[in-house]
Amino acid sequence: MHTHTPFTNLAFCVRTFGCQMNKHDSERIAGMLEGLGALPVESIEEADIVVFMTCCVREAADTRLYGQVASLKNTPLRAGTPLSKRVVAVGGCIGQRDGERLVEELPHLDVVFGTHNLGSLPRLLEAALEEGGHHVEVLDAASSFPTELPTAREHAWAAWLPITVGCNNFCSYCIVPYVRGREKSRPLEDIVAEAEGYVAAGVKEITLLGQNVNSYGRDLYGSPRFAAVLDALDATGIERLRFATSHPKDLTDEVIGKFATLRSLMPALHLPVQSGSDAVLAAMNRRYTRGHYLELVRKLREALPGIALSTDIIVGFPGETAKDFEDTYRLVDEVGYHQVFTFIYSKREGTPAASVDDPTPRDVIQGRFDRLVDLVQQRAFEANQADLGAVVDVLVEGASKRDAGLLAGRSPKNQTVHAPLPDGVSAGELAGTVVPVRIDEAKTWYLSGTLADDGAAGHAGAADGR
Ligand code: 5AD
Ligand code: SF4
Repeated sequence: MHTHTPFTNLAFCVRTFGCQMNKHDSERIAGMLEGLGALPVESIEEADIVVFMTCCVREAADTRLYGQVASLKNTPLRAGTPLSKRVVAVGGCIGQRDGERLVEELPHLDVVFGTHNLGSLPRLLEAALEEGGHHVEVLDAASSFPTELPTAREHAWAAWLPITVGCNNFCSYCIVPYVRGREKSRPLEDIVAEAEGYVAAGVKEITLLGQNVNSYGRDLYGSPRFAAVLDALDATGIERLRFATSHPKDLTDEVIGKFATLRSLMPALHLPVQSGSDAVLAAMNRRYTRGHYLELVRKLREALPGIALSTDIIVGFPGETAKDFEDTYRLVDEVGYHQVFTFIYSKREGTPAASVDDPTPRDVIQGRFDRLVDLVQQRAFEANQADLGAVVDVLVEGASKRDAGLLAGRSPKNQTVHAPLPDGVSAGELAGTVVPVRIDEAKTWYLSGTLADDGAAGHAGAADGR
């Protein structure tokens, strides 16, 4: 950095709650602040500027944010800081939803921004640094797709690439369309240009992001063109391609077919079902049936027999009966997911479902939830047994958190894989490379094995690993 900016030599820290879109937005914030000369630090205590990227999709993140911001008031400044007061900013979904209300409740908060004006953050922070006072800016909609912001990626070998922002689906429980706005697609050329830049920089894995990637392009081109995005990304030469999230009503046969034909597309799909009951699905405004969903699962497995499926489920949606829940339970049993994210319904003010009263006692809902979690774990354990004895290609992320002598990485099916590091090789040296691992233990949440000695074995593994 040659030019001096108000950010030169200030330390910043970004705390992220919620989904991958938020994590990606945080990388863009880090990219902007680093570009202005600020230095990233790990801890809030060490930071002069703290940015919270927030989520209001579920209650837990909401409560945690207010607690964390409040506790900052009593956190001493770091030694040697040029500031007399730490600068605190809140952005993302809660910033968008609560705006001015946030600074009323948390008076030591300096900056609030929303989901549509990430790019304004440096200007708002600069005003707070120079003038003090509150700086709140929340827009109703984005003027354009926020394509041009730099990113500071968490891992050099993996990148998130947003292709749409916002959502038009208005599922009756969901706050996202209100805080992220209507769906906006990014032009295909922009997406491809960003992906080509990543490939040239040595990125191994790209994850395409959108609230509903399957409807990509409807606003720009009149009809969805997600399959074309997948083709174009594959053609960039990227090693691993993933995407999230898919709405079952928009997942086409053409896209399903890509799992069989595209070299880079990893054999894993997150396909949120939310409920296995037709009555609940209708009340949720999901616009598909249990039968349609199961048909999609059948087609996916026909296209790619080993595909690993994951899903989201809400337990205790208003009006969910014991029979509705049994339908969900049976669906989870039938599909045999590799992973299920289970949530207890929580009311989001302003959504249609928030005005529906439900007499079902909390402990009944908790009982359903606990039963479902047991089943999810049992089925995940069973799904992982399919890989026993296989050699799978693992993209190494680093050392295992529990044992520094083990490498940790991801299989094509997105399972966590552990294996002992070879003598004299550090996890850091292997991070970002793909190594073949022979699986000799399959647990509920991870696989473990040993490095397979030659590259040829890795190749055979890649073929049957798919
Ligand atoms: N209550 C509980 N879970 C919710 N989700 C979204 N809104 C709510 C809510 N109000 C879950 C859905 C979605 C995931 C990201 O969060 O399962 O797929
Ligand atoms: Fe929310 Fe439904 Fe849109 Fe997903 S598809 S973000 S659940 S409204």
